[in-house]
Amino acid sequence: MIYFDNSATTMVKPKEVINAVLEGLTKYSANPGRSGHKLSMMCANKVESIRECIKNFINADNVVYTENCTDALNLAILGTIKNGGHIICTSNDHNASTRPIFEMAKKHNIQISVATPSKPGTLTMEDISKHYKENTYLVCVNNMSNVDGEIADIENIGKFCKEKNILFLVDGAQSAGHLKLNMKHCNIDMLALAPHKGLYSPQGIGVLGFSNNVDLKPIRFGGTGTEGENLYQPTTSLERFESGTLPTPNILGLGAGIEFVKSHFDEINSKIDDLSTYLNFELSQINGVKVYTHPNNSYGVIGFNIKDFGSTEVSQILNDKYGICVRGGLHCAGLKHRFLNTLEQGVVRASLSYFNTFTECEKFIRAIKQISKL
Ligand code: ALA
Repeated sequence: MIYFDNSATTMVKPKEVINAVLEGLTKYSANPGRSGHKLSMMCANKVESIRECIKNFINADNVVYTENCTDALNLAILGTIKNGGHIICTSNDHNASTRPIFEMAKKHNIQISVATPSKPGTLTMEDISKHYKENTYLVCVNNMSNVDGEIADIENIGKFCKEKNILFLVDGAQSAGHLKLNMKHCNIDMLALAPHKGLYSPQGIGVLGFSNNVDLKPIRFGGTGTEGENLYQPTTSLERFESGTLPTPNILGLGAGIEFVKSHFDEINSKIDDLSTYLNFELSQINGVKVYTHPNNSYGVIGFNIKDFGSTEVSQILNDKYGICVRGGLHCAGLKHRFLNTLEQGVVRASLSYFNTFTECEKFIRAIKQISKL
């Protein structure tokens, strides 16, 4: 089997991550932050030391554990809602941010502008700034499209947001692990991560980093292990965002995933760069194949179609006949497919990880050549 669906989730996890999760299920399996006993304290200390490690990794003032990246984006969007305001989002965004924004807009009289890239390859600051209005309070940008890997210039968009005093929310689901993310350097107010993708972590854990400038309100309520007498949600301390028991084994896996990416960053990304460049070029040479990923983009997300074949049909043939796992359809990114004009056909997406090989890429190209002749 060849697994080219790493943007859905990286399937092969480093042994360090597997061992850390196992340790979470054996050694660190008490409830962190709920009881004062030795084991509970040991778990709480571990969870807090990993929080510090994430803070350093993305240069954040604060880090909150969430259920997944969608949950982190919901917290960022719903937790900063402004009645009657205006939000700028982008055609690269995933439904994880688009849907909360569109749902909230209906209820809170919010206007939305969808920025699109004026030139292929990168979504720029100018693409965002032309939508600015007096009541713009939030810019939400997907750092890397999960459909074709398109990048947003978050450094300059961040400068613009800072200048205009607008909150800047970045969806780093697809970029974390591939690009170095530095919240302070890029003036990012809120950054959401999907660790199960490029951080090689288990599913069931997300992260929201946020800066001290953000007046973030909790959106879920419940037990925090603090102020038990209070019938309302605590108003200070990070626990107010983390109601319910934390998934300690997943947090341990996340800590190990980040360590793995930090210590192999160049090696991981130069391999993905080589394999992507090869796939993008070879696909573009096949008659009838249209590649959506920009030729200079080598972050391991390659979107393409073969003639007018349905993308899910192609994915099915790859699965059934060649044992190759890719994702077809719309990848939960409705705005992107409106922009690409692929709402009907969808896109076939091959997505890579550090654990893929050149031989797998050659086999994949041979398969696409055969399918294109059908
Ligand atoms: N967001 C994930 C994907 O792109 C699930 O497939």
